[in-house]
Amino acid sequence: MLIAALGISLGVLSAVWVGWNLTLDALWQPTDRTTVRRILFLARVKEGETVVDLGCGDGRVVIAAARMFGAHGLGIEIDPLRVLWARAWARLSGVNGSVRIMRADMYGADLSHADVVVLFLSPDANYKLQDKLLHELRPGARIVSYYHPMWGWEPEEVGVAKSGYPIYLYRIPEKPGNELHRRKQTVRQEDF
Ligand SMILES: C[S@@+](CC[C@H](N)C(=O)[O-])C[C@H]1O[C@@H](n2cnc3c(N)ncnc32)[C@H](O)[C@@H]1O
Repeated sequence: MLIAALGISLGVLSAVWVGWNLTLDALWQPTDRTTVRRILFLARVKEGETVVDLGCGDGRVVIAAARMFGAHGLGIEIDPLRVLWARAWARLSGVNGSVRIMRADMYGADLSHADVVVLFLSPDANYKLQDKLLHELRPGARIVSYYHPMWGWEPEEVGVAKSGYPIYLYRIPEKPGNELHRRKQTVRQEDF
């Protein structure tokens, strides 16, 4: 009886969790390790820089940034279970001191200290984030988006993931009133 009740509760909780995940702008899909390295090499991450992964999942990108490049990693993740997992993994990897995992909605995250922002999200999420990235990131900051391009922005470079899919590198221009923004205005609704 008790086991049956436990099973039903677990089933209901899992269904609620899966249902809630389906409402997010990006579902969880981990980046393979080779591609994680390619993303970080494409961004040319340097020691001491701050790498932010919006929608960090289990934290693999920021953990690799800290381990391989001596960077500070900030992972922002909305799913509490993945946050716990990412924190545990960071601790086990010995990078607890240089990696922070925050349970937060990425659309409200403060990006002003980021040198590199990593995205593996969806076309919708990228579109919603574009103005925020332009307004909050410092000139020269890099944005690396795996699989999905930014709407109307011209990439500085395009790398290739292990799967063959593209990895787009963008850079916030040095001057305000920048080019990237103007190009975004030209995106038409039909492009969705
Ligand atoms: C495709 S996965 C990428 C995971 C990780 N960045 C990687 O490359 O392995 C997208 C992640 O974004 C998270 N996510 C979706 N919407 C979010 C939001 N509004 N704020 C924070 N995280 C979000 C999901 O929970 C999921 O873990």
